[in-house]
Amino acid sequence: MAVELKEPKDFLYERKGPWPQPCPEHPFGESAGVIHVPFSEMIDWWLHVGSRYMTTLLYTPVAYIRGLLNPGLAEVSDHEFTEMLTNSMLAKFVKNVFDSKDREIFGDILHSEHIWICDFEPVIVVKTFKGIYASATKTLLRKTGQKFSVIQIYVDETKSHFTPGDGDGWELAKYYVLQGGALCSTLVVHPLLHFPMDAVNAITKTALPKDNIIFQLLYPHLRFTLYLEKAVLTFKTSLLMSKWWMPYAPYPGPYEGLRDLLVEGYEGIDHNFSYPPFKYQFEPEYIEGKYGEFHQAYFPVFRKFATNVLVDLTETEVFYITKWADYASTWVPGFPKGVELIRDRELLISTVAYFLFDVSVGHTVDHYNFGNMDIRKIPMRLRQAPPKKGEKITLDRKKLTKFWDFGKYEMARRLFFSETTKTRLIDTVYNFGKRNDKLQKYVVEFKNELRAVDKKLAADNAQFTPIDDIAASIQF
Ligand SMILES: [Fe+2]
Repeated sequence: MAVELKEPKDFLYERKGPWPQPCPEHPFGESAGVIHVPFSEMIDWWLHVGSRYMTTLLYTPVAYIRGLLNPGLAEVSDHEFTEMLTNSMLAKFVKNVFDSKDREIFGDILHSEHIWICDFEPVIVVKTFKGIYASATKTLLRKTGQKFSVIQIYVDETKSHFTPGDGDGWELAKYYVLQGGALCSTLVVHPLLHFPMDAVNAITKTALPKDNIIFQLLYPHLRFTLYLEKAVLTFKTSLLMSKWWMPYAPYPGPYEGLRDLLVEGYEGIDHNFSYPPFKYQFEPEYIEGKYGEFHQAYFPVFRKFATNVLVDLTETEVFYITKWADYASTWVPGFPKGVELIRDRELLISTVAYFLFDVSVGHTVDHYNFGNMDIRKIPMRLRQAPPKKGEKITLDRKKLTKFWDFGKYEMARRLFFSETTKTRLIDTVYNFGKRNDKLQKYVVEFKNELRAVDKKLAADNAQFTPIDDIAASIQF
């Protein structure tokens, strides 16, 4: 059978786009963006996602009053601090590789055994508003068996080291670490689950015919995303713009520095092994502890599903998949070229499985976890200068933030950070066309296996988000 060349009508939008392009705001340091989004996708987004923002905004006065009634930050014990770093989304930053800067800062202690680092160096690029402070930090942890303990914090702004015996200096240093965690989570690593996938989303809609098996498998996972991303990256009302009048813009400084955090995530930081440049992955990255266990438990289910579905491809399908991958690989670093995918079935399966995993489980769990953290313990803004070793430090937790800092953060949490699933992974409907008879049983199996993993994770205290709350696509 020869390749059947398709006509425009065989494609979702008659082959007229959407398509990736260099990101208008930052063409050289960020993922390609998709700016021209089909009208129907815009309407769909406004009806189901944008409208929720409008109603949530009504909560603003309540958020501000809550800030007034309960000012400042809450105490974070050393035990809780360690838990927050190692048993949450922040575990993504816990590494046991050290670069030359780490060695300069910490010296010989890095040679002792079982030392790990939680590095929030990206914060260096953040500029702050008057009266608000931020600092890069590096935190050392010791691992004994499966347990971590925090042994030292380095505060970059003051070039100071603090240890648990250092009183208020230590207490304040912990808030700076957690602030770095909030900034790097939301603006350095989480965006890597979002924006690089936009090119794949657009190219799948434009370059694959509707009867192509990869289109059919991915399509239910592409809804709401393109317009959401466009709103975040380009709207004047985006929280990234960080304007004073926005009741939902919680960040400590203006747009420029915040945008540089996105660049650090995408381009990586030279010589810092904790921040390599973005590259498309074929399995979830290694994450220490239970947060990693959650990721590792789900991925094989996606891989098996992709293995079951991607069988008996026709010559025409192979032809279009080759084009799809060639297009995607020009916009997404590390995405395989067509010829590589076609030569290597396992690579094709991993490429597709990772996409499905990323936009559903990988993406939702970050939101669910971060969105449920106590924002009085993981601040975005701090109003006491970073502690300096040797200077007297008195900590008044009530004065560490203003009531509107809380109000803005709480609104951002409700609007953007929390998981707000509209279409659930577990409800996903796939239309495999002529192959429905053969493949629908694998959809059932896929969902049963997702439920089984969820159950196992719950029993193992590693259910970072219940399966019923996992979204089918990037939609928040
Ligand atoms: Fe997200």
